Amino acid sequence: MDNLENPLWGDDWTEVRELFDNLQPGHAYLNHGGFGNAPRTVRANQEQWRARMNANATRFFRRELGPGLNTAARAAAEFLGAPAGDLVALVANATAAMSIAIASVPLEAGDEVLVTDHLYETSVWAAGRRAEEAGARLVTAAVPLDADAAGISAAVLDAVTPRTKLAVIDHVASMTARRFPVEDLVPALQARGVIVVVDAAHAPGMLPVDLASLNPDFWGGNLHKWGYAPRSAAAFWAAPQWRSALRNPIVSWGERAEYPHRLTEVGTTDRTSLLASPNGIAFLRALGPQRIREHNVKLVEYGQAALAAALDLDPATLPGDPGVPMRVVPLPVPFDDPRDLQAEISDRLGVEVSVPKWNGHTLLRISANIYNAPAEYDRLAAGIKSVL
Ligand SMILES: Cc1ncc(COP(=O)(O)O)c(C=O)c1O
Repeated sequence: MDNLENPLWGDDWTEVRELFDNLQPGHAYLNHGGFGNAPRTVRANQEQWRARMNANATRFFRRELGPGLNTAARAAAEFLGAPAGDLVALVANATAAMSIAIASVPLEAGDEVLVTDHLYETSVWAAGRRAEEAGARLVTAAVPLDADAAGISAAVLDAVTPRTKLAVIDHVASMTARRFPVEDLVPALQARGVIVVVDAAHAPGMLPVDLASLNPDFWGGNLHKWGYAPRSAAAFWAAPQWRSALRNPIVSWGERAEYPHRLTEVGTTDRTSLLASPNGIAFLRALGPQRIREHNVKLVEYGQAALAAALDLDPATLPGDPGVPMRVVPLPVPFDDPRDLQAEISDRLGVEVSVPKWNGHTLLRISANIYNAPAEYDRLAAGIKSVL
């Protein structure tokens, strides 16, 4: 896997790839969507913050962390199009954001909580736990893998009843890589009196986000996936009417503070990833968000087509959405434990992918980022039949 090239990006691709020098040599890392990755420059910035923390922890935690987090929160709020003057709360990850949001929604016995069969499993569990506490009922809308945007909206809205109080929807679903039309769904659900939580774990950096016009009730998205922030970094936003009811599940020094500080205090945790997150945004902007998006989508489409050819599937029948640099290919044979297949693909082909299990199907999910090259997808396609 030496001598990679990438004509889909352009002449400076080798320099861009070089910034991701932390990647395992010789391995094709096609699972950016799983955990994200940050370029060397951003990691170096985090190390500078870490060195300050370790040189004088008292100065850092007492006098530098607060102002640093405010600066980072302002950068994230601006990047995500939060209403003018508004801040987001910087939290560890989308898991924390969803937990805070779902736990803060007022529910009563007899209410219904709507999720979909694409929603990230732990977000479903958070919704289920909240429903159970309140004596509410969890309802799951089935959304076909190949539904178009109108079909996705219809499947969600058809599951709304007069008792539906809360809906938790993806912006981009993890298991299926489908893009939910949140710009239509959020207002349509709110018009039916439903409180909407958006699990936007993949959105920052992948898709343009404008919180002011989207105006969800609660929203959380990772900066460490497609926003080039170091792990772990995420942004959380709540509409003003919910802010006084927000609770940080971890009781810390923000307990008596207002939003967003109430959510950002977590004792002595290392928040240098959050402090370095503006550098991830700056990196993305310097390369050009549009250039990155177009490249990543073209490359993932290339990869999906290569896999389709290898598995004798018609690429036109495979799901995929505009702007989403992740694609799934349903595998012809189901696997009891998709993690075995993931490990097998890694060990035998030297390729890292995600292998979600969804509604009885085993899916192979590939991602594309600026450090990937067409030859990496060719390697997966060339070997896939041998591991199935
Ligand atoms: C849709 C969705 N929600 C939530 C998460 C959880 O993200 P994290 O592990 O960073 O908290 C993920 C992770 O892939 C995801 O894809």
